[in-house]
Amino acid sequence: MTFIEWKKSYAVGNPLVDYDHMTLVSITNELFHRVEQGYSAEEIAKTISQLTDYVERHFAREEDLFKGTEYPDIDKHVAMHADITKTVRDIATAYTANPSAINVFEVLDFLKTWLTHHIMKADRGYGPYLKG
Ligand SMILES: [Fe+2]
Ligand SMILES: [Fe+2]
Repeated sequence: MTFIEWKKSYAVGNPLVDYDHMTLVSITNELFHRVEQGYSAEEIAKTISQLTDYVERHFAREEDLFKGTEYPDIDKHVAMHADITKTVRDIATAYTANPSAINVFEVLDFLKTWLTHHIMKADRGYGPYLKG
């Protein structure tokens, strides 16, 4: 079972951004796979850390794209990114400190909701400003 199925409606219309989003979905699916298959805490921590890194790099790339556009929600969007970065980093730190204290399925649900909602609402909102 695929945890998050990529949908055409997730596309923002910028190939680099769409590639990043597909990668985030695919790392999250890998995390689900590892948890479901009973991988070791160390193997799960590796994927969480990979996800954290990719989230940070993706947000930086996205924020670079906003520069010089007329997109009106830059500040709000950057603040949302900062919130998510903090949450994901906190999860990574807490999991590394004590894996058994973290319910990874809850983390996965959070990631699924965040990814799909953020992409569908916030990210698709800037799509039109990147063209032209
Ligand atoms: Fe975003
Ligand atoms: Fe994004």
